[in-house]
Amino acid sequence: MCGIIARVGNGDSVDTLLTGLENLEYRGYDSAGVAVQNGHGIKIHKQSGRVEDLATDLRERQPKGNVGIGHTRWSTHGPPTDENAHPHSTSTTNVAVVHNGVIENYDTLREELQAKGREFTSDTDTEVIPHLMEEYLEETGDSETAFRKAVEELEGSYAVAALVDDEDVVYAARQGSPLVLGQDEEAGEYFLASDVPAFLEYTDEVAFLEDGDVVIARPDDLTVTDLEGNVVEREIERVDWDPEETGKGRYDHFMLKEIDTQPTALSNTIDGRIDPVEGTVDLEDFPDGIFEDVREVQLVACGTSYHAALYGAQSLKQAGVRAEVHRANEYELSSGPIDEQTLVIAVTQSGETADTLGALRRAQDKGASTVTVTNVVGSTAAREADEALFIRAGPEIGVAATKTFSSQAVALSLLAHRLTEDVPDADTRDDVTEYLSALHELPDGISEILDRHKAEELSRKYRDSDAYFFIGRGMANSVAKEGALKFKEITYEHAEGFASGELKHGPLALVTQDTPVFAIFTGDEEQDKKTRKNAEEAQARGAPLVAVAPEGHEAASIADEHLVVPDTHPVWAGLLANVQLQLVSYYAADQLSRPIDKPRNLAKSVTVE
Ligand code: F6R
Repeated sequence: MCGIIARVGNGDSVDTLLTGLENLEYRGYDSAGVAVQNGHGIKIHKQSGRVEDLATDLRERQPKGNVGIGHTRWSTHGPPTDENAHPHSTSTTNVAVVHNGVIENYDTLREELQAKGREFTSDTDTEVIPHLMEEYLEETGDSETAFRKAVEELEGSYAVAALVDDEDVVYAARQGSPLVLGQDEEAGEYFLASDVPAFLEYTDEVAFLEDGDVVIARPDDLTVTDLEGNVVEREIERVDWDPEETGKGRYDHFMLKEIDTQPTALSNTIDGRIDPVEGTVDLEDFPDGIFEDVREVQLVACGTSYHAALYGAQSLKQAGVRAEVHRANEYELSSGPIDEQTLVIAVTQSGETADTLGALRRAQDKGASTVTVTNVVGSTAAREADEALFIRAGPEIGVAATKTFSSQAVALSLLAHRLTEDVPDADTRDDVTEYLSALHELPDGISEILDRHKAEELSRKYRDSDAYFFIGRGMANSVAKEGALKFKEITYEHAEGFASGELKHGPLALVTQDTPVFAIFTGDEEQDKKTRKNAEEAQARGAPLVAVAPEGHEAASIADEHLVVPDTHPVWAGLLANVQLQLVSYYAADQLSRPIDKPRNLAKSVTVE
């Protein structure tokens, strides 16, 4: 967790660091800090609270420095206090360090350093790094060597950047946590950050660093080496993300912007991959026959990505392919036998979720073939899986995943389609033309909802409820779960998602006239009949019923409210229903004045297990 940034160049770094931290705040937002080097020692400013508080403070003090590092924190070791905020240093302020990751052997290192008389002022694992560096600096007199030696002592995961007093240099290294390099060679400016949006306003030339890489960046000069000091080449790529995508634009919140840009995101997901007229799906990197040895598919994911995996797995199950969806953090216990005929699909927006990477690595150790479905090119999952299918949704900054759920569910459904073409005895769809045509029109269906929804009014009506329940069957069950996750995550209200038929096995005890039930109908007559019965059972106990259903659906006639799902194939109806639910969550949270883009205690990219 946490976001780090470093910048070296000719000219002041402070504004660049602050912009970078604002763009990285989705990774953690309980404290923030920067350190700059300006020829008169290292100046550190850090405090608990948001980046904007730090920015206000810095505007008054106006520190300057052409070389700097910055950090925005999501606490793992110690509460969000000024002392625990990064950058960390020593009593001499000879070095300053920012770090994302977890140093697993920090207890031992700390004890050893304390035995040498070193004093610690924070609860963090990170603080061992500046002390180690200073020890080695005193021993060797050479800061690059000191940095390498310090890093060699660390066990666990880290993306780390360091300044040394009186040197126009940033030292950085990565092991198990993301670190991206940005360069504007003409300006002699280099950036290191946890993610590309941190510096996208300044350059689109990036290199995704690898584990074991050490970077020595000076204005006009950059070297990347391995831990031993051998120079390594890292390919510079141009990212095609628009810097505007990393700003809020005319929106109050990234979440609403990201809900609103779903038609474009989804069009990008399917662009060039489907031909509704021919009835074909063409996924680059997945040629005919690639899955012919697969006998079982296991999908691993967390949170919203888990719900997208549940959605995608339905297509496989319906086609008779053995498919199981596992919470990545339980995979070690739940996976059952894995062998070379198992295909493991790691679904992860960020490509950096520690639980999901753990499951992916476990699958690889057991000999499974692996694919990741991810949004982030160059992410750890994209590099470690055998193959990657990119969802192409563009950067998602709001902590609550919205557009990426839709794009993941669609990308997974397309991957499922490709699998059924290869896996022996799988049934391929006999309605493929209708299925792909409806997918082709899905972005328009979302636009229709965005143009004429009544989410604001509806969330006001149910604003004082005790709890909110979401029910659905099959694909609509995964949408019910996702609807509830989104609702609780950003409103802090109690919300639960269930399979429709499960309500009567316990949760019904919670149902009262103050617990609206959102029932999701897809237009699949047989399934909808059952959901309607379960919805009526809740209604009979006084619950207000909100039908999220196609226009003219019979459920609308019994419901207190109807959120309309535009006409589509039943396979895609759940994704349209989900957009309605995203909007309800958003407006409910807005009316409660919640910090929608940065819900308490959460962060977008969870890089700890
Ligand atoms: C919820 C949310 C989280 C993530 C989860 C997995 O809105 O965003 O539940 O879905 O932390 O993250 P990724 O997809 O990056 O692996």
